Amino acid sequence: MDLRQIKSGAEDTGLMTYDPAFMNTSSCRSAITFIDGDKGILRYRGYPIEQLAEQCTFLEVAYLILFGELPNQPQLKEWIGEITHHTMLHETSKKFLEGFRYDAHPMGMLTSTVAALSTVYPDSRQVLDAESRLLQIKRLIGKMPTLAAFTYRHSVGYPYVYPDNDLNYAENFMNMLWKMVEPKYQANPVLARALDILFILHADHEQNCSANAMRAVGSAQTDPFLATAAACAALSGPLHGGANEEVLKMLDVIGSKDKVPAYIEKVKAGEFKLMGFGHRIYKNYDPRAKVIKWAADKVFEVTGRNAKLDIALELERIALEDEYFVKRKLYPNVDFYSGIMYQAMGFKPEMFTVLFAIPRTAGWLAQWQEMITDPEQKIARPRQIYTGHEIRDVIPMEKRGA
Ligand SMILES: CC(C)(COP(=O)(O)OP(=O)(O)OC[C@H]1O[C@@H](n2cnc3c(N)ncnc32)[C@H](O)[C@@H]1OP(=O)(O)O)[C@@H](O)C(=O)NCCC(=O)NCCS
Repeated sequence: MDLRQIKSGAEDTGLMTYDPAFMNTSSCRSAITFIDGDKGILRYRGYPIEQLAEQCTFLEVAYLILFGELPNQPQLKEWIGEITHHTMLHETSKKFLEGFRYDAHPMGMLTSTVAALSTVYPDSRQVLDAESRLLQIKRLIGKMPTLAAFTYRHSVGYPYVYPDNDLNYAENFMNMLWKMVEPKYQANPVLARALDILFILHADHEQNCSANAMRAVGSAQTDPFLATAAACAALSGPLHGGANEEVLKMLDVIGSKDKVPAYIEKVKAGEFKLMGFGHRIYKNYDPRAKVIKWAADKVFEVTGRNAKLDIALELERIALEDEYFVKRKLYPNVDFYSGIMYQAMGFKPEMFTVLFAIPRTAGWLAQWQEMITDPEQKIARPRQIYTGHEIRDVIPMEKRGA
């Protein structure tokens, strides 16, 4: 704001910056996530993503992101108990879902039902009350997998499966997705762990489009269910969380490994982008893509090799050697492999962004909480450079001509 004192005269509003898409503007101070895009580094609260993915569970990482430190054993036990306690949905949520057509996109259903939860929990409007905020945080982290699973069950016409509190976070999600008539769902431990790792990798990514939406909407002191719905809406775009679904579609279009070179040529000619490649921040290999590749190997040992993986590996090999991609520092991002892995695990592509939204809710809430408690923050309200007409008078209709 000090720049505003630089003026050409008394009438001048002062020096302002013009920075579309916030390419060079920080909108906040944040202690949650550190990214060095040139070096390919991602850390939550100082801990490298690789160590967290290998040694922790998602709920441990969610605790870390939200409260700043890894939990000790009693803290984790209490945290898991509290999240588990909040996994049930109010029965009216099922009615919201029933109103959707059978072919509604799960992400549209998720976004709308998260917003609708705001009507179920009017106490969530007390955003300046720390105790209320914590309660909503637990509710949202607990209920997101349930909502996500219900959108899936709705789309395939199966009855909803209620949470099973004996299971861990990822296992319980799998239970609500895939339990049929068996009395107790048994999750494959390798797949459950792989899902948990994917949740860790997607938990936060500093000021990305959806985190920015969460902060911007939350800055109006909107309740966290509505702000999370806004973040979900941002995430659903193909340039953000929808990219892994696009990767799968692209692999289908390519069809086989031998068609990869011709496809790359079309990308270079500017006909379309290589989905799952490139990133606003990473100008190096996305560190999450490395962890995913390692987890994908474990998944494929259980599920068998996915034919799309061969096409993806060939795309990656050629692109990493090609001058077009090298010069522009275009590397595979997290979405490049997550889609193939999700598909191997049995998820439909329409569910991919929903799978992203579940863990990212922890990140959104941490960003929201940080924003609300930051005395420097105000309602988000960017400036503009007006390019329209100077003042002019309204011409009566009969004089406006044909
Ligand atoms: C993520 C993304 C939106 C970042 O965009 P950005 O930071 O604005 O980068 P730019 O659009 O300025 O791209 C810089 C150059 O690389 C090219 N480029 C960027 N991503 C590309 C891709 N996936 N395939 C081919 N070319 C790409 C651009 O055309 C541009 O080339 P030019 O300088 O000749 O015009 C973009 O890379 C993209 O659309 N990727 C595909 C979608 C995706 O995977 N998104 C997931 C993100 S996690």
